[in-house]
Amino acid sequence: MRTQVGIIGAGPAGLLLAHLLHRMGIESVVLEARSRAYVEERIRAGLLEQGTVDILTESGVGERLHREGMRHDGLELRFDGESHRIDLHGLTGRRVTIYGQQEVVKDLIAARLGYGAPLIFEAEDVTLGGLTEDHPRIAWREGGEPRSLTCDIIAGCDGFHGVCRDSIPAGELRIYERVYPFAWLGILAAAPPASHELIYARHQRGFALATMRSPTLSRMYLQCRPDEDLAEWPDDRIWEELHRRLARRDGVQQVKEGPILQKGVTAMRSFVAEPMHHGRLFLAGDAAHIVPPTGAKGMNLAVADVYYLAQALKEFCRSGNMAALKDCSDRCLARIWKAQRFSWWMTSMLHRFDDADAFEHRVQVAELSYVCGSRAGMMTLAENYVGLPLD
Ligand code: FAD
Ligand code: PHB
Repeated sequence: MRTQVGIIGAGPAGLLLAHLLHRMGIESVVLEARSRAYVEERIRAGLLEQGTVDILTESGVGERLHREGMRHDGLELRFDGESHRIDLHGLTGRRVTIYGQQEVVKDLIAARLGYGAPLIFEAEDVTLGGLTEDHPRIAWREGGEPRSLTCDIIAGCDGFHGVCRDSIPAGELRIYERVYPFAWLGILAAAPPASHELIYARHQRGFALATMRSPTLSRMYLQCRPDEDLAEWPDDRIWEELHRRLARRDGVQQVKEGPILQKGVTAMRSFVAEPMHHGRLFLAGDAAHIVPPTGAKGMNLAVADVYYLAQALKEFCRSGNMAALKDCSDRCLARIWKAQRFSWWMTSMLHRFDDADAFEHRVQVAELSYVCGSRAGMMTLAENYVGLPLD
């Protein structure tokens, strides 16, 4: 088999890249290790920046997103039991939208299968070869049978634990990393959201976030230990902890309980691999970088990466010149580092650090008071949260 762009991974990055290329008349084949059902049900991100919504809309896959997505004009920061609203729309003129990542994935899979473009699920033992040659190759097994694909370019969109980044020889990448001493315990519950807007809460027992997926489905997170055992978190304990950490000083109880449909623990990490290419392999999304979820930037960065990569591939296919593709890495990294800084800052400001002393606690609260009490502070949070413009 032969194609112009071989894409590894059918997460938001791989599927959107394939879709944008299709609209530009560029052929691609997408290879995914998991089944269709698995990738369509995997619960992860939920918050889309306006730039992400615009890209999905302009590329013709925004119809259900506009019908079912929940648009948010603001968010709440809560500390010392007091709520402070950040008026995202008033400050920036932009909004964010809640729409589950797996819904974006479903919409992109439906579009791709709708126009009959190749998308191969359950591709086993994917390996890459000839990355510094003119026609790199991908090999894999399908139902036990060996298969291979010759490409002009390979896009490594296979997430943090994929094979693409590891196919780059040691020493070719610079790695920047921070692993945080905590994780998030996330639940999906059949209960109305605590509030119509997201609540980010700092509490001495640890961070909590109340978000949502629909008017009848809430998604909530609790800061926990990185090695937390879910068996120690029966439903009652989760609700009790959410009530405590999201408590308001005026006594109003906002968290609404309901059957817990799903529970999971997510590690917290900041990670960047530079540059995002080697020979004819380009990395995009979580394959190249990870942010802690406090800034809600991971999927949005994956979308921005492939938006730039699709433009560079268009130029490469027109001229055969690799220069635009090489510049693409710098263009993506400029945005990625700003999102890294914001995600690290939100994480540092809102989480409990076990080794922090009383002084550091007071400084953390003072920083939150500054952010919520000054126009400059609110603006810094708002313009980063809604997403910097895609130039
Ligand atoms: P992935 O979604 O990881 O997709 C990679 C794909 O590659 C997968 O389907 C995988 O099965 C496949 N794959 C892996 N290895 C191979 C292989 N060897 N061969 C073939 N296929 C392979 N981001 C936001 O923007 N907003 C949020 O609100 C937000 N909240 C989050 C909350 C949580 C709890 C978590 C965990 C993440 C959150 N994120 C958020 C981050 C977001 O989910 C990720 O950044 C996003 O999934 C990245 O997309 P991707 O396509 O790069 O990678
Ligand atoms: C989510 O809705 O899952 C979500 C929202 C905002 C975040 C993280 C996760 O910062």
